[in-house]
Amino acid sequence: MITGATSVYGIIGNPVSHSLSPVFQNRAYDYLGLDAVYVPFLVQPDGLVGALEGLSRLGVKGVNVTVPFKELVVPLLHELTEMARQMGAVNTIQFNGDHWVGTNTDGDGFWNAMMDLGVSSEATCGIVGSGGSARAIAMGYASRGGKKLRMLNRTLEKAHRLKRDIQLWYPLLDCEVASIGDVGVLQGCDLVVNTTSVGLGGGSQGLMDMGWVNHGQMVGELTYGAPSEWLEAAKARGGVPFNGRGMLLHQGILSIEFWTGKRVPMGVCEEALRGIF
Ligand code: ATR
Repeated sequence: MITGATSVYGIIGNPVSHSLSPVFQNRAYDYLGLDAVYVPFLVQPDGLVGALEGLSRLGVKGVNVTVPFKELVVPLLHELTEMARQMGAVNTIQFNGDHWVGTNTDGDGFWNAMMDLGVSSEATCGIVGSGGSARAIAMGYASRGGKKLRMLNRTLEKAHRLKRDIQLWYPLLDCEVASIGDVGVLQGCDLVVNTTSVGLGGGSQGLMDMGWVNHGQMVGELTYGAPSEWLEAAKARGGVPFNGRGMLLHQGILSIEFWTGKRVPMGVCEEALRGIF
């Protein structure tokens, strides 16, 4: 029941109507006994500043941030956690009156999901892509003491830039980058994650030669619909598949904890999405 005292949280993005966050966030508040709701806010690309100002003035307590605003919100905030500074991107904002604090739970969300699957922080990690998601996963990996990272990208310069940025924070990280054709560097990685947008609309089959996949290697992607052709090819070679569902839920659980100090069990969020995916 919504009362005069109900706290409002939400997500800003464009598009945002596809977001599953409202489904499990609202269930989480119920479980935690919080008088709070979580709603989607569609923000126009030129409306970000006004939207943040409006949300803050209306007493909204916090929002998640999704595409295309994760980097754009950074200069508009008053305080960033170290994780947000490392990533140069924010997925969670807390409005404390006129003081807006940004953090980023994407990297920890991904690695918490991997821990659920039994992956240790000692694992050698391969990342395909060098965009925002790759940055979050790579920084999260290094921040947890990960030691050996391999990164492939179509645009090699972008992978080099990401490597430089990561090593500014984590100079001891053994990080090798290669162009997307040099798949040999993925051989021996305990875990490989495809962060490119290629699988989204199909056509991921031609992304790369899949000869590097070993039996029992964890191989996954960040989408949570039907597996891409890329993932199917990895499975056919003995890869153990995962998708972005665990990361989605864990980043949300961490956002709730950032806002409220309360931690909702994974099972509660999973239950909320049962039948949806
Ligand atoms: P996100 O925030 O989801 O990571 P992004 O920052 O736009 O999205 O990054 C998209 C990634 O997908 C990039 O690594 C991009 O490679 P480039 O740096 O070469 O652009 C990769 N990508 C997108 N389309 C691709 C394609 N057709 N083939 C290979 N890589 C692709």
